[in-house]
Amino acid sequence: MHRNLIIFCVVMLFVGAIIALSIRSVESQGDRVQRGKYLVEAVAACGYCHTPRVGADYDMAMYLAGHPAGQPSPRYNFRMIREGIFIVTAPQLSAFSGAFGTSFASNLTPDKETGLGEWTEEMFIGAMRTGHHQGVESNRKIFPPMPTKHYAQMSDEDLKAIWAYLRTVKPVRNEVNPALDHQGKPK
Ligand code: HEC
Repeated sequence: MHRNLIIFCVVMLFVGAIIALSIRSVESQGDRVQRGKYLVEAVAACGYCHTPRVGADYDMAMYLAGHPAGQPSPRYNFRMIREGIFIVTAPQLSAFSGAFGTSFASNLTPDKETGLGEWTEEMFIGAMRTGHHQGVESNRKIFPPMPTKHYAQMSDEDLKAIWAYLRTVKPVRNEVNPALDHQGKPK
């Protein structure tokens, strides 16, 4: 009898510890998402390029969904250098053209076909750290004005937090144009 009671107490302690640990991990995942939101919104301003504008305001239906499909793209002309113009942008402020070619802010929502739905955390952190498409060194470089040089200096914990937050935003179906080289050909 006495032995059974001891076994019961040990089992209950064990179950209690498992429950406490899982509550902690749910809480810390919640904290991580909150931290990611704070970084995306208040510090790194990802939406500044990745959320297109309607007029002067952000188009919140397209929150972090990248340059809207089907919109005309800006096209830089080398003669503009003489006028001191180095970069031109679309009215949505989400596509950019310069001597480097033309870039379109990517769809960062978790949409499976057109966003980061199929990306892994490793690909995301790799892209932010290396400045190469999908984090693969042999892939093309990510075009300006994506500030990878700066974001590459973030801590692993912060990049993981940003990734955790991006997984929670509403998926938006928006097939962003591929980047173009300076002759207007897809890279
Ligand atoms: C100043 C504008 C700007 C800001 C701010 C910005 N981006 Fe970008 N981002 C771009 C552009 C433009 C591209 C497309 C570049 C290309 O196609 O090579 C891009 C591409 C990306 C890609 C795709 C990379 C790849 O492998 O193809 C990811 C992921 C990304 N941005 C995440 C972010 C996150 C997260 C933030 C905030 C922490 C952010 N961006 C802030 C402009 C910006």
